[in-house]
Amino acid sequence: MKNTIEALNQKYVNSSAEELIAGFLDDYKGKIALSSSLGIEDQVLTHMICNIDKETQIFTLDTGRLFPETYDLIHRTNHKYGIKLKVYFPDAKHVEEMVNTKGINLFFESIENRKLCCNLRKIEPLKRAFAGLDVWICGLRSEQSVTRQNMQRIEWDEANGLIKLNPLMDWTEDEVRSYIQTHGIPYNPLHDKGYPSIGCQPCTRAVFPGEDIRAGRWWWENPDTKECGLHKR
Ligand code: ADX
Ligand code: SF4
Repeated sequence: MKNTIEALNQKYVNSSAEELIAGFLDDYKGKIALSSSLGIEDQVLTHMICNIDKETQIFTLDTGRLFPETYDLIHRTNHKYGIKLKVYFPDAKHVEEMVNTKGINLFFESIENRKLCCNLRKIEPLKRAFAGLDVWICGLRSEQSVTRQNMQRIEWDEANGLIKLNPLMDWTEDEVRSYIQTHGIPYNPLHDKGYPSIGCQPCTRAVFPGEDIRAGRWWWENPDTKECGLHKR
């Protein structure tokens, strides 16, 4: 697999994000999906994908704790592109059990609790979303975090047994914003209120000028531990 990934990275070394996506949508039709958090990067990818093939699966993990603005954006995106984002929910029984034993806001109590919550509300539904897929497309960018600096545009995701595509890996935040403006793409209004990275409402705060892009995510934790487990490396 290492050689295949190396060859794919070589093949697309000079390709734009659109060209990379178009190549993969063609080669993996029906076996490729975008996982969208409705963040600004994922909106760029949704736009690119819809311009190529609107039948492509785009799914989102609704943890039950998202911002109202994020739910609005699901609706606005579906309307604008004439698509239906597939929404995955966590297992109700497991969430009930967790909340009733550990508390409604358990994530503030310990890293262990926070990881348990992310696990039930995101990772388990993600595993279901992956059924039948060979490739998942994500909106990760290298400059987002210390944990994301050694990425490749095309990677083998060992934990999930899938090819992972990071078409915007090299994009800066300015490039993402300018693409959104130029193409009139709907985006979360919280991005204009100090939220460069948006996850669940209780675990996301606005950042101060000059602060790191992901400083507002699980802000009470150390930067080295701030991944929910979606992107193990
Ligand atoms: S996270 O791991 O810290 O939550 P982040 O918000 O930076 O991730 O998003 C990185 C990428 O992970 C997104 O571009 C998207 O592909 C995927 N992702 C994150 N959250 C979700 C979600 N709720 N539903 C679907 N995909 C998601
Ligand atoms: Fe739970 Fe917070 Fe993780 Fe969302 S980000 S799943 S609320 S711990």
